[in-house]
Amino acid sequence: MSITSFPEDFVWGVSTSAYQIEGATAADGRLPSIWDTFSADRAEACDHYHRYPDDVRLMKELGMAAYRFSVSWARVFPEGRGKPNAAGLDFYDRLLDEVTAAGITPYATLYHWDLPQALEDRGGWPARDTAERFAEYAAAVHDRIGDRVDTWFTLNEPWVAAFLGYGSGVHAPGRKSAADAFRAAHHMLLGHGLAVQALRAAGAEKVGLVLNIAPVMTPAQVSDFGRELSEEDAAAVARIDALANRQFLEPALRGAYPAELLPVIDRHAGLGHVREGDLETIAQPLDLLGVNYYTPLVVQAQPSEPADPAYPGSEGILFCTIPTAVTAMGWPIVPNCLSLLLGRISREYPGLDLMVTENGADFVDVVTGDGIHDVERISFIEEHLRALRAAIDDGARVRGYLVWTLLDNLEWSDGYQRKFGLVHVDFATQRRRMKDSALWYRDVIRRNGLAETRPRRPTLETVAARAGVSRATVSRVVNGESSVSPEVRTAVMRAVNELGYVPNLAARSLVTRRTNAVALVLSVPRQGADALTSAVVQYVTSLLEGAGKQITLMLADTAESHRRIAAHVEARLADGVVLLPPDRGDTLAERLSRTGVPLVLLGKPPIASLVPYVDVDNAGGAVAATEHLLARGRRRIGMVCGPTDLVTVQDRLAGHRTALQRAGLTPHLAPAGDLTRAEGAAATRRLLTEAPSLDAVFAATDQLAIGALQAARELGRRVPDDLAVVGFDDVDAASATTPALTTVRVPVADQALALARLLLSRLEGRHTTSVVLPTRLVVRESA
Ligand code: FCB
Repeated sequence: MSITSFPEDFVWGVSTSAYQIEGATAADGRLPSIWDTFSADRAEACDHYHRYPDDVRLMKELGMAAYRFSVSWARVFPEGRGKPNAAGLDFYDRLLDEVTAAGITPYATLYHWDLPQALEDRGGWPARDTAERFAEYAAAVHDRIGDRVDTWFTLNEPWVAAFLGYGSGVHAPGRKSAADAFRAAHHMLLGHGLAVQALRAAGAEKVGLVLNIAPVMTPAQVSDFGRELSEEDAAAVARIDALANRQFLEPALRGAYPAELLPVIDRHAGLGHVREGDLETIAQPLDLLGVNYYTPLVVQAQPSEPADPAYPGSEGILFCTIPTAVTAMGWPIVPNCLSLLLGRISREYPGLDLMVTENGADFVDVVTGDGIHDVERISFIEEHLRALRAAIDDGARVRGYLVWTLLDNLEWSDGYQRKFGLVHVDFATQRRRMKDSALWYRDVIRRNGLAETRPRRPTLETVAARAGVSRATVSRVVNGESSVSPEVRTAVMRAVNELGYVPNLAARSLVTRRTNAVALVLSVPRQGADALTSAVVQYVTSLLEGAGKQITLMLADTAESHRRIAAHVEARLADGVVLLPPDRGDTLAERLSRTGVPLVLLGKPPIASLVPYVDVDNAGGAVAATEHLLARGRRRIGMVCGPTDLVTVQDRLAGHRTALQRAGLTPHLAPAGDLTRAEGAAATRRLLTEAPSLDAVFAATDQLAIGALQAARELGRRVPDDLAVVGFDDVDAASATTPALTTVRVPVADQALALARLLLSRLEGRHTTSVVLPTRLVVRESA
């Protein structure tokens, strides 16, 4: 079997959920669910309740073998209990007749987050009774449609429902309580176990559970999964894995909570809700585990980090951004994580059949006269299918793949702005239009695998043919040359938009015969940042040269050089620009971004823009530094903060203030005129004269901190006994001071690598967002 073909009985299909597509929220006796109460968006969604015959026809045309849908509990038990509502069940009766008549195998999900509001009013999932009601509901649904449903899934993504619904409150019902979240999670699991028993008793053949399982890793592991971790990072990864994944996998598949999770649950919610016998009930044998995968969880140890409310017990752990292409939702695209996770589950729970029950992506779609050319969605699915195929080769028992989702729909708290569908929905008219990805997926299903050649993006040739001009003309327009008449330019731009053409480096250089040149523009490095500048030069050059680009190094130190650089880029002598802007606002970045040539910046710019940048978590680092001082018992902390027109200084100052505020303390600030040691010493002298009782100094940079050490020595203060000193950056000199400086380490090489990767993504026409890398406290003798 070649890498592109799939096992013979492999199941292809799509997934949807009731609340996201049905609409008709008041029809036939349905009463509100928690999402009707919580959501600000109008609820017609895709009006699937009335248009289901059309939607089933679409699936049939696309050759779907499987359809995973969910049942709305609030239609079946509008009041949450009592007699099932026959009129509500009728809808699923009709739907299943249609689905089975189309030759499509139905997979029913019983709980895709839409709890009847009546049950929430009685305590919701944190109340044990809801689990019992769930089993009753499962039995009632089976009673009506069990003869036509092949496979039952009890819950969809209980982590999301419990921890976003009851922990962080960004999902319905919007409660913010760690105790409620853990109790909800347990009762969902219990409801799952009880429902499996009820379904089996009623004769259901195949029963499963759907979990969102995210591989958890550090930023460095994203490109090198085998990488050894420090003890702290390994603990951070294990903690998040326990909260997000193993909290559900272990009880359902092995009948026990992960041992290290129990104290966390106990601390937040007690353990009284976990009763004798519950775990046996939960661990019912399953026929299938549904795995939903979108993006990995990337974390690292960060001592001062407060817990994320969606992960109670995650204090000391930072959730990181990583330099990869992202979907419009901002979710990093990391297909090989799908292989990792399927491999892992197959190894850890051998003998279990798996199905990818959701995978897909939100991208901005453009409706054109001749279709919706969603090339990015196609590549996303294709890359994930390759990863899935590789996992099968390695022995993972994956039985099928379901795309999320059939239709553009109501994406929970994000409303209608998200576009995950293979089929576009115009929400004003409810008109459905197949996107290119739908037709592409149809072909995948037909041939039971991927084509040997990858789908081609529209090229200059296609644009030229569409606009009725030569390739050279298209290239001139795309490259912004002025020698083209306005009429021709309009025609070409129309074709570009209609085809969803993304100018790509290879095509451009082919036609223009330009070299693959990238400009690396440096301004004079700020004091103390030369290490970063040289790392950028080193890494950006080697990574980009490795990718076949030529690097033009340009120095932006005078007004004349700015003019020259702008002219160079405007003339399209560079296909992309990496800019290390000067500290203080200037207009070079703005000018370059107007050229339309892909640009990436080092450092967050003073004025927010769409230009992606790479920076470090300055505020987080300052919080860590300040909290370290507080933890050492220091209460009178001064800050030598540097010129406050620098964005970095602003962010570090903000973090310092936040930490002090949390501790109920007020800041003592001494702004330094620049970032030199001399200024650090002068500012510290001022601070200590004005407030002699200070017992600690936090300096915005190591250079300032080294100055502070000097001043302390001159004033006869002993460090750290009388005065603790903490810096920021971890420059080489920081470990060579006496005493050695406690500081916040800024990842130098990682920033340089991230910049280079970000530019490569942009050159490939990928959507990208800025990257903020984590910092880390390094404790030495000075504090
Ligand atoms: C999953 C949900 C699904 C949809 C996708 C984007 O977590 O199960 O309903 O929201 O994410």
